[in-house]
Amino acid sequence: MFATVACSSSEEPGAGAKKVEVFTWWADGGEKAGLDGLVGAFKTDCADYEFVNGAVAGGAGSNAKQVLASRLQQNDPPDTFQAHAGAELSDYINDDQLEDLSAQYTEWGLSNAFPKGLIENLTVDGKIYSVPANIHRANVLWSNKTVLAKAGITKDATTLDGFFADLDKLKAAGVATPLALGKDWTQQMLFEALLISKLGPEKFNGLWNGGTDWKGADITAAINDYKKLLTYTNKDRDTFDWTDAEKMLMDGKAAYQLMGDWEAADLDAKGFKDYGWSVFPGNGNVFQWLADSFVLPKGAKNADGTKCWLKTVGSATGQAAFNQKKGSIPARTDVGTDGFPAYQQAAMGDWKTATQVPSCPHGSACAQGWQGAVGSAQGKFSADGDVAALQTALAAAAAEFGPKK
Ligand code: BGC
Repeated sequence: MFATVACSSSEEPGAGAKKVEVFTWWADGGEKAGLDGLVGAFKTDCADYEFVNGAVAGGAGSNAKQVLASRLQQNDPPDTFQAHAGAELSDYINDDQLEDLSAQYTEWGLSNAFPKGLIENLTVDGKIYSVPANIHRANVLWSNKTVLAKAGITKDATTLDGFFADLDKLKAAGVATPLALGKDWTQQMLFEALLISKLGPEKFNGLWNGGTDWKGADITAAINDYKKLLTYTNKDRDTFDWTDAEKMLMDGKAAYQLMGDWEAADLDAKGFKDYGWSVFPGNGNVFQWLADSFVLPKGAKNADGTKCWLKTVGSATGQAAFNQKKGSIPARTDVGTDGFPAYQQAAMGDWKTATQVPSCPHGSACAQGWQGAVGSAQGKFSADGDVAALQTALAAAAAEFGPKK
């Protein structure tokens, strides 16, 4: 009776080999719009294969990374997954979970397509392990123009003191929580932006490469300023994802939010037009960067399909289709500004001339263990405001997870 079993087309032997499961945390809004752009390019370039959406919602991969870790542990990898360039990617490389893509870089002509410094963030011992899709900027302050105008704020603050003065103006104008904030990783972002202002780019870099002492008096001063900054934020921050804080801004309940430039795409996707942006006050021309990249996991069911996905991700057309909707800018250096919204056009210009620093919660500066330790220290601080305890915890995290001296 073997031969008489009926199969629908999707159950035909070999049909599974066409599916490419792409694992991300881009489930909604501008993130989904970006992913859809990339999928459109994949459908054209890789018509033999079928995209399967493995997205797990939750900002910065707060849920997705855990789901991924357990799948990798059970030897059930998706065909490809999103991983941040830099230290976070090294986690997977060190655990021997990724295939070397050096041959594909040569075959697809990618070796000179990306900035040299970015390629270094994807390389270990001469092997390149992922294809970058974009460059995001983390240190951007988004604002609700109408709320600012009502409080008489007509210019972007360029110093921390100026920012505190504007936050006070907003309070005086009746805006109870001028600065919208979310939970753990979003608090890390706000604190890092403030650290960039307080320390400058070189000392900020030193926090991650071992050159700056986390126990220093300048860090104590920064934590005190951060504590003051929290007084302008919503008390329910620890229950908020970045999109909940963004909603406060859209609803006019807050004037500002510090967030990566996926917010540009998300505000656009939600049809909210009344927004402004500036670099975080005091950051000058520092561009705090992070990059999403895609990998070929060892044991992927459909390595050929994944290679087609990766080729699309690295192509000029794929990067344009994706980044125009994602708020980020192409990692490739040869994609023109045509078709990009005003925000990304400005970011493309800034990227060329700015001083670059990495981000811990978005993996360019720290691996996942360090991210987690900082996140829980800041979560605790959000509740107890204990300056000395936060500084001790941050120094301990650097000693445990940072470069060994
Ligand atoms: C990712 C972005 C994403 C953001 C918010 C970051 O870690 O790199 O692609 O939009 O998290 O979810």
